Amino acid sequence: MLTPNAYRRYLGVDISDVAIVKARDKNSRSNNVYVQGDIRTFNPSGTFDLILFGDSLYYFSFSVAKKILDRYSSYLNEYGVFVMRCWVVNDRTRAIVKLIESDYDVTEKQWYTFCDPMLVIVFKPKSWQGQK
Ligand SMILES: C[S@@+](CC[C@H](N)C(=O)[O-])C[C@H]1O[C@@H](n2cnc3c(N)ncnc32)[C@H](O)[C@@H]1O
Repeated sequence: MLTPNAYRRYLGVDISDVAIVKARDKNSRSNNVYVQGDIRTFNPSGTFDLILFGDSLYYFSFSVAKKILDRYSSYLNEYGVFVMRCWVVNDRTRAIVKLIESDYDVTEKQWYTFCDPMLVIVFKPKSWQGQK
């Protein structure tokens, strides 16, 4: 867990009101804001240094996941990165990982093995190349 002064603001989005309540109960720091929303259509205010997809992208079809990544690219700051953390247990998730590796610049990739393989992958839009 990050210390409170390691970041200015954290915005957490989930479609489930139950998940939002749980997140608030778990961590109610003043720089954390939780919003109920559908990430397929959610429009955050402002841009971010880091956008994390925590066990969420594999809920969507390959084409929807691609659209989500394309759309959220415009919410990254210059030098901002995506992080995806996911269990890689089916073909759909493997296809999303392949998409990330072909369409984005991967800067870090770490596999973990618990009962199933879990991947943490850090990537950014190729178009950045240091500039937006
Ligand atoms: C496995 S949980 C992960 C929760 C949290 N992101 C984390 O990293 O611990 C998957 C979450 O994705 C949420 N989810 C599913 N479809 C969604 C959507 N269209 N928009 C936003 N959240 C969604 C579910 O409600 C659920 O809370």
